[in-house]
Amino acid sequence: VEDPRLQGISAAIRVVPHFPKPGIMFNDITTLLLRPKVFKDTVDILVERYRGMGISIVAGIEARGFIFGPPVALALGAKFVPLRKPKKLPGQVISENYVLEYGTDCLEMHVGAVQPGEHALIIDDLVATGGTLCAAIRLLERAGAEVDECACIIGLPKFKGRCKLNGKPVYILVECR
Ligand code: PRP
Repeated sequence: VEDPRLQGISAAIRVVPHFPKPGIMFNDITTLLLRPKVFKDTVDILVERYRGMGISIVAGIEARGFIFGPPVALALGAKFVPLRKPKKLPGQVISENYVLEYGTDCLEMHVGAVQPGEHALIIDDLVATGGTLCAAIRLLERAGAEVDECACIIGLPKFKGRCKLNGKPVYILVECR
């Protein structure tokens, strides 16, 4: 049976047609954030799933992984590591490029944020092609971390089930509408 909280989470996400460009259905989580009970349910589901697993790193992907990642990290007693778009982090970084529909983008992580052998959870709001999460997995693994799972609030239907990216399981709460 499905967790009854998931229905409320799905219903709290606003779908905006033709944003940011024609033909794109944008799944907007800001409406979920306006509802403290639903925001808390979202964080709680992730904390319940990952508590007691020895995760010491929650890595959040810019920008909306910076909203859902930190409350999960605090509840797990893990550190929060931001994975940022290029040229935002002031210290020494490692970088991973990834392919978008048009062009490429890049994620960066501070050197020294992660110690070899640590167990990591990667969090973002949404997975579509999976290119962003794959880049995030590569960054953590290059630093010697073990990525236990990636978690997203929203995913395409193919991610609901047992989809893997770079051999790592992807856990999603609700499907894109
Ligand atoms: C969105 C989303 C994920 C990514 C998923 O971010 O928040 O990070 O796209 O896409 P993928 O699975 O096809 O890689 P976006 O690129 O819009 O950047 P933003 O968070 O800076 O707005």
